[in-house]
Order: sequence, then C-alpha cells, then structure tokens
Amino acid sequence: MADSPAFERLLVTAALPYANGPIHIGHLAGAYLPADLFVRYQRLKGEDVAFICGSDEMGVAILMRAIREDRTPEDIIDTYHPQIRDSFERLGMSFDHYGRTSSETHVETTQDFFRVLDENDGFDLSTDEQLYDPEAEMFLADRFVVGTCPVCGYEEAYGDQCEQCGSSLSPTELETPQSTLTDATPELKETTHWHLPLGELQAQLEDWIGAHPEWKNNVLGQIQSWFDEGLKGRAITRDVPWGVPVPEDVAERHGLEAEGKVIYVWFDAPIGYISATKEWAEAQGDPEKWTDYWQEDDTRLVHFIGKDNIVFHCLMFPSMLMEHGNYVLPDNVPANEFLNLEGEKLSTSRGWAVWLHEYLDDFADERHAPDLLRYALATTLPETKDADFSWDGFQQHVNGELANVFGNFVHRTLTFAQRYFDGTVPSLQDPSEADRAMLDRMAEAPDTIGTAYEEHRTRDAVFETMALARRGNKYFNETEPWHTNESDPQACANTIHVSLQVCAALSILFEPVVPSAAAELRERLGLENVRTSTPDDNPADAVGWADAGTPLLPTGHPILSGPDPEPLFKKIDDDTIEAQIEKLRERAAERDSDPSPTDMDYDELKDNISFDDFTNLDLRAGTVTAAEPVPDADKLLRLDVDIGVEERQILAGVAEQMSPDEVVGLEVVVVANMAPKEMFGFESEGMVLMAEEPDGTFVPVTAAAENGSVVR
Ligand code: 2FM
Ligand code: ZN
Repeated sequence: MADSPAFERLLVTAALPYANGPIHIGHLAGAYLPADLFVRYQRLKGEDVAFICGSDEMGVAILMRAIREDRTPEDIIDTYHPQIRDSFERLGMSFDHYGRTSSETHVETTQDFFRVLDENDGFDLSTDEQLYDPEAEMFLADRFVVGTCPVCGYEEAYGDQCEQCGSSLSPTELETPQSTLTDATPELKETTHWHLPLGELQAQLEDWIGAHPEWKNNVLGQIQSWFDEGLKGRAITRDVPWGVPVPEDVAERHGLEAEGKVIYVWFDAPIGYISATKEWAEAQGDPEKWTDYWQEDDTRLVHFIGKDNIVFHCLMFPSMLMEHGNYVLPDNVPANEFLNLEGEKLSTSRGWAVWLHEYLDDFADERHAPDLLRYALATTLPETKDADFSWDGFQQHVNGELANVFGNFVHRTLTFAQRYFDGTVPSLQDPSEADRAMLDRMAEAPDTIGTAYEEHRTRDAVFETMALARRGNKYFNETEPWHTNESDPQACANTIHVSLQVCAALSILFEPVVPSAAAELRERLGLENVRTSTPDDNPADAVGWADAGTPLLPTGHPILSGPDPEPLFKKIDDDTIEAQIEKLRERAAERDSDPSPTDMDYDELKDNISFDDFTNLDLRAGTVTAAEPVPDADKLLRLDVDIGVEERQILAGVAEQMSPDEVVGLEVVVVANMAPKEMFGFESEGMVLMAEEPDGTFVPVTAAAENGSVVR
C-alpha cells in the first residue's frame, strides 16, 4: 500500500454547497462522491474519521437568488438547506455532521477567527476605489458584477473569481465590468476593507505546496500558474447586506463603523468546516474534541472540492490557517475537473443538469437506486480532465457491469450454493491451480483497490473492484461447475467455496461505492460482524478492509436460504433511459425559448413620482422614416423620426435585434424633450421608448396615432 505519513485521525471535508439551489450530478462528481468513497474506505480500514460538510449560506450567491425571486435570503436558505441535506442522505452520503453557515456557532467561530487575524496583524486595512452601482446604490462585490477576466479573457467572469480559469479576482480587475443587478456600468467609489496579504504569504505557501509533490497534477498545475503570476492581496470584507457581520470591536480598533460591512463568503465558508466540526463534537458530548481534528499535528486533513474551488482551498484558506497559527494545514486537496452532460456543459439556468432529488424520485422503484447513480458516476469522475455523463453510458454501466458482471457472479454463485449444497458453504479440498489463482487474486484486491483510493484514483479503485467480480465470472466459466457437478463433485464444491469467498470479499470491497447492494449481499451470505462504513461505532474485532483478502466464510456456514435469490441488480430498460433524455431536452428547449419567471431579472419598481414630474415629459407619437447603422457602434441604429412638428435624428440601441428595414415605418413613442446627446459623432435628439424584456430583448412601444400626438 502507498506510504502515507503517520497520522492518528482523518478530517475529511466536502465543499459546502451554496444553499441556493438543488444538488446535481456535477456537484456529486466534483466533490461529494469521491469524498464519500474515500471516507467509507477509510472507515472500513478502521481509521478514525470525521467527515464534515454543510450548507454555504452566506455571501452574494444567496443574496442574488433572493433578489431575483423577491424573497429574503433567510427564506432561500431555509428552502434549500433541508432539501440538499435530505437528498445527500438519500444518496447515502455518510457525513458525520452536515451543518450550515447561518448557525450561531458558525457566526461566532468566523468572527473569532477574524478577530485573531486582525490582532495578529494578519490583515491590511486600506481604502480604495471599488465598483459601485449608482442605480442599485450598492457596491458591486463578487457575483454582483461580471466582466472580462484579465487572465484568460473569459467574458462572464465574476468580481471575485473567473470560473473559466479559476483565478481569484477583484472587481476592479475586470475589463468592461457590468452590474448584474441593473446592467449599469459601475462607477468608482471609495470604501475601506480588510485585505488578506496573499502576496506577502506567497513564499510560505510555495514552501508548503512544494512539500506535496504527491498532489494531483491538475491541482498543482493551477497553483503553479498563480504563483508564476504572483499572488495579490484580496479584500475579505464586503459592503453587502448579507453575510457574517464584521465584529464591532474589531472595527472599533481601527476607528471604523462595522455597520453594513460583512465578511467575504470565501473567508467564512471554509471556517464552516471548523464550526461544523465543533457542532459535531458537541453532539458527541465531547465539546473540545474538535481541537484534536483541527489542531493536532497527527491529523490528516483532506478537502474534496471541484476545480473552481482550488484557489480558495489551496491558497486562501491555508493562508488564513497559517496566519492564525493554531491549525493543521490540508494534507491533500484532491480537486476534480468538471462533468459535462450528454456532451454539453452543465447549466443550471438552462436546466441542462440531472438533479439528485429528481433522480432519486424517478428511480425510486429500481433496486438500489442510489447505488446505480453512485457507481455510474464513480466510473465517470472527471479526475484528470473534464468527463461526460450520458444516460446511455449510465445504462451501460448499470446493465453491463453492475447487473451482468457483479450481479451475475453473485447470482450464479448463490444459486449453485442453494441448489446443490443446501445453502451452506461447501468444503475446499485439494484446490486446483485455478482455485488457488482465484484466491490469490482475491488476496491482492484490498491492497490494489486501497492504494487507488489512497492516491485519489477513485475511478481506478472502482474499476479494480469490478475487475475482481469480472475475474470471478471468468473463474466460474472456466471451472464449469455445471459440468463438474456431475463429473467431479469436489471440484464443483471447490468452485462454489472459492466463489462464495470472492462474493464475501466483494461485499466489503464494493461497500464504499454501492453500500446498499453490498449490505444486501452480506445479509444473503450471512456475513456478520463487518465494520460499518458509516459513522457508527464498531466492535474491536469487527472484520475490516484488509480482511476482505482472506476467506471469510467457514465451510458449513449457512447462507440465506429460500427460493432462488432475486438478482442483486435489475437492468434498466430503454424506455426509462429515453424518458430521462427526453425530459432533459424538453426542459432545456423550454428554458431556451421561454425563460421561466424564476429566471427573470426584474428591475425593482421605482419610487413614486408626482403628476407634475410626469407632465414634464414630452411624449409624442412619431414614425420612423429612415434607419441606418452607426459606424463603430454595433448596438446602435441612427433613425430619422417624424414627430409631426418636426423631424428628429435619434440613436436607438436596437441594432443587434432589428435591421434598419424592420425599423423603418414603425409608429413609435418618442421622448421629445430629452436633452440632446452626442454619441459616435451623431447628435441624438430624443429617445424612442422600448420595453426591455427579461432576456434583454427590446420591444418598441408603438402608438398608431397621428405623428405629433401627445402621449399622456
Ligand atoms: O463553490 C461552492 O459551491 C462553494 N459554496 C463551496 C464552498 S467550500 C467551503 F469553503 F466552504
Ligand atoms: Zn479567467
């Protein structure tokens, strides 16, 4: 087995999902499944593990959803937190604790951490110009602003991170920034914030990362590119109305007001791992136990995340932990790349995703439904590069591997044992070379599979597990017990004896990936006293991972008898698969053509105005008599509009949607007393009224009235 540094206990975290939407297969393949498989394997090995996760409930992602849906952030998190927690549980995620970052413990833990760093001079405090949306009257932090990434040129980069190249950014670094709240072009306005001086910590971070050549290449590669560019300090407080408040006493130390300032979500979220561990320790009746996992050097801390979280877990959180001083640093951060679906990028807004709760409902009648998804995804993990999940692939993995290989091997072995050996384990006498080779192969399996789990080659681990079942089938075919049953009964007994031992081994080795089917298999084999892979306590003499390599069923041991057993897995039929593909395509087509109300980005209603304010507007009916493109202005058309009293030249931003021909002849409403404005060398003498639909389409407001009529 791979050498790993001596450690006493493992602390494993899986990225805290934002409580602003349900979990989909991309999340599962990125972080959650590999984490759960690793943890279950470690528990079977007998390691002391704390497996921690929870909902990420602070920050702009939550606030944005609340603003879009005209709900409170509390309402959003109270909807999604329980939904996410429950769907994880139904999938068999075996967390020791699933917390949430709106908890009191979390707020207190985050504020304490912030206070310690402030007192240790771990921050720079500076006043700089930040992007401000004059319409929304808000600073544009994080996801409230999009623009072009200065590193890779991606045009939809957020104010704190480019999700294309993973770089962490400041809003002012974005080229052509735009407010996602109002589409306004932001202004610059001064504000004071606490900054984490990542640049000053670069050498220390490089030393630490340099001591981990065993990390995955995709992770090391990204980190190196940021080191090469040179790290920059990052603001870790925000002027937004949702988040963990900056503690008043800390603000006072600097003669500042805490009011309106919150801690950046990427400062508080990883501290969520700590606060959830505290809550877990408390629930165990040992409130100080969390310190063993976070502050003792013989803890091995492993963060499972998706690739867009690398910068935060490999640079920012470790910097915070280093600056604090009392904490262990991660021993590994095995980040996965992205999962695509049916050859296209997953998109929650387009509905191009398979949602966990929907899968669990749709497949509720299938045997071991959670296991089917766990297995199919585990064989498709984007470990070294992006990978693709397809429903046809899912069917092949279930039918061709779980059912035809694993299920079939178990089924034929158990059926033989029941029919010809009274449902007991027959004896093994004078084993043949084939029998011995099969047992030798079984003896190696825990090590081969375990090494793959240890090295975060989860796909290989699952592949190797299935390979043992495949080898079992081959052995069964080659030893032909259906013939030897007549011609050489002891040879037949030997085949069934050995096959039953391999089934017992598989019931342990398959436990991390298909825990429900593995438990059923152990029950059928009457295999008891096996260590659990869930957080429960185990008796000291329980059978564990390494024991799976040795024959576990004594001769004469009774296996569950009865009629011929039902196969462990049922095949998925074509109709079921087609229905899923159809559902996906229909949903995406609907979203593409007609954004649902929840996707609409309504502008907020404005304050009331007086009647006089309204009559100050001179609105006139007019007709567009000519239209032409404006050189160098892709969006603008130059229009001549007859407004009865005179002809006006007006520039309108419709060029991307309407050709000049379509515009000529339109009967429009014109704001006739708009102050003239010079644009691209033309004077615009008024404004043509347009309704802007939620997807940004402009629809002219028409008035089939005599030119010059007053609109009131
Ligand atoms: O990317 C995300 O979904 C974040 N909510 C992950 C947070 S991980 C941790 F730091 F809490
Ligand atoms: Zn980028």
